[in-house]
Amino acid sequence: MSRKAFAASDTEWAHHGGEFVRLGDVRLSPATHALNYGTGVFEGIRAYWNESRGTLQVLKLREHYERFEKSCRILQIELPHTIDELCEITLEILRRNAPREDTYIRPLAYKSIESVGVNLRGGSELSIFTVPMGNYVELTGLRCAISSWRRTADNAIPARMKATGSYINTALAVDAAHRAGYDDAIFLTQQGFVSEASAANIFLFRKGGLITPPATADILEGITRDAVMELAEKELGMPTDKRDVGRTELYAADEVFLTGTGFQIAPVTEIDDRKIGTGEMGPVAGRLQELYFAAARGEHPDYTDWTVPVEVVEKARR
Ligand SMILES: Cc1ncc(COP(=O)(O)O)c(C=O)c1O
Repeated sequence: MSRKAFAASDTEWAHHGGEFVRLGDVRLSPATHALNYGTGVFEGIRAYWNESRGTLQVLKLREHYERFEKSCRILQIELPHTIDELCEITLEILRRNAPREDTYIRPLAYKSIESVGVNLRGGSELSIFTVPMGNYVELTGLRCAISSWRRTADNAIPARMKATGSYINTALAVDAAHRAGYDDAIFLTQQGFVSEASAANIFLFRKGGLITPPATADILEGITRDAVMELAEKELGMPTDKRDVGRTELYAADEVFLTGTGFQIAPVTEIDDRKIGTGEMGPVAGRLQELYFAAARGEHPDYTDWTVPVEVVEKARR
């Protein structure tokens, strides 16, 4: 059980209610709609510390805010800022906090009305805060189990929208997996096809090709998933087949790995007590991991447009 938790600090700068504030100065009412009904949407963005340049490299910043905007649209939340403004606010939070370590950025937009009653009317609020974040899971081999909790269907609670309330589904599955001694849970759809892991997309390497469940398999359409497909195609000459995946195809795969902002690229070496491939990280996941980290830290010359650098001056401005 290798999942870690990363705490937010009250003294760090955040953006809330249109202003830069210390996180500890933000106070919410228990009547807040999102707290009662799970009516919020969020993103998770990583900024990688590049020691030799003294910069944080913010990975796929715009892509995350584009998905954020789509999640907001599904939940009828009107954002007070354009995507460009959200990117700039995020960079300013990082400049102010000036962390010299890998950092996670959490934008959150939520229904803020303080009254009882379930609907999607009423105002919303936007907060953005950061937490330090190293590896969320081990990157050498996870033991996973197929969850008895099914992924929420698109016409129930859409996984395509990164909604706070959806993560009850995740929490139930992760809790059951951890209690049974596994590192993570793999969801099936209501129809019984492979969907995704708790907070990561899933890839198989089988019969010489990469496969991942399609956008209709009740997945969050991961930004890392897209990044990995791009790397696999351009660097390994290996296009990814997006198609329905049966449960036992996982057992029969030569390699399985998970992708996500938090998970990064995490090989799965065991599923339901069955060894995957050799039971060690495979060469495809290994090579993709190397390429991904080089690009994410802004060190791969062909993928400099994946990251935005933030120069980190020492914390004198705080
Ligand atoms: C449910 C779920 N699926 C997939 C992912 C991967 O998405 P991304 O690569 O955009 O981080 C995440 C989040 O990180 C997630 O929470």
